[in-house]
Amino acid sequence: MTMEKFYNPVKIYQGKDSLQELKNTVNELAARNILLLTYHQDVMKHEVMNEVLDILDQYHVVTKVFTVSNPDINDLYQLYNDTKDESIDLVIAVGGGSVLDVAKSLCCLYADKDDSVNDIRHKIKNKQYKKPKCHWLGLPTTCGTGSEVTCWATIWDREQESKLSLESQQNYAYAVFVDPRLLISMPKSLVVSSALDATAHATEAYWAKHTNMISKIYALSAIQMILPHLEAIMAGDQRLVHYDALSKGSMLAGMAFSNTKTTACHSISYPLTLNYNIPHGAAVSLLIEPVMKKNLMILDNQEQLLSAFGVKNVDELGSKIKNYLQQVGIETSLKKWNVKKEDLKVLVSHCFTAGRMENNPRDLDENDVYDILESIY
Ligand SMILES: [Fe+2]
Repeated sequence: MTMEKFYNPVKIYQGKDSLQELKNTVNELAARNILLLTYHQDVMKHEVMNEVLDILDQYHVVTKVFTVSNPDINDLYQLYNDTKDESIDLVIAVGGGSVLDVAKSLCCLYADKDDSVNDIRHKIKNKQYKKPKCHWLGLPTTCGTGSEVTCWATIWDREQESKLSLESQQNYAYAVFVDPRLLISMPKSLVVSSALDATAHATEAYWAKHTNMISKIYALSAIQMILPHLEAIMAGDQRLVHYDALSKGSMLAGMAFSNTKTTACHSISYPLTLNYNIPHGAAVSLLIEPVMKKNLMILDNQEQLLSAFGVKNVDELGSKIKNYLQQVGIETSLKKWNVKKEDLKVLVSHCFTAGRMENNPRDLDENDVYDILESIY
């Protein structure tokens, strides 16, 4: 018997008036001590943040600026340690995926006492975290990760050269406020890498072993919504309508993969980001073409996916993605990112991320992954 299932409990307020609901939401949660986590000091001067600060005026707010992208377990521990005695009962995160992921992680970590980085490393690795102690609210400032509507957080462990994932079905955001005004100051290279990350989420949700009817619909809609508006922004059109569409598309892609997880593209991309600092969105989107070529023989309805991208075949899709990246000065070959050809063999062994690679529709072995890496070398 086959069965479709889909679950996502996040209350979504989207659009430039979405903050109107923030006050009611904070009241509803009866928070006393709020952690306000932002990605940059300058964000506090943003017109949207003025509205947020007005709403929070009557509450005790601890503000922390968290500037790290791709946060490491040490960064997370430091923030946890700095705030654990504040009796935080609500976390509000304003930022990109890294800030949102750290906010989610803190909600789980506050439920327990941890005395060292090793304590939390062990807890996350072995999935021994408790039920989150408090809720979190998200105000995304980028349009790619979909972190606002997923229940997992990526935390890097550079010391142990691995990627950790803190996952809990109880740790979805209580509500998110997706205000496109927060996106307008994104540099173009970030717009492109974020938007392409979202298209990778959608693509992988579409073909994942654990895909479902609803995720497929969200995935196709996400890609169709993102690309024309990405192109408009790249051509210099800065109107809010385009950022609004990017944030909607990214959220739809997030909804799609919130119930499927990602597959080989994300699995293979992690060591590229960890070891060579290739931006996540660039690494993962460069892998769409070669992974799709491997998957093609068992994909049904690949025409729908290609047509959502506005291309006729996989080669055309690969060229389209590279063209977006090159237009904002992002290198599109591993060689240009200082990957040595002789490193590829070792790299292959780091590309099999648990929970992601085995979710690829076609089982890939080390030879397949070597071919994939070589094709973008
Ligand atoms: Fe991603």
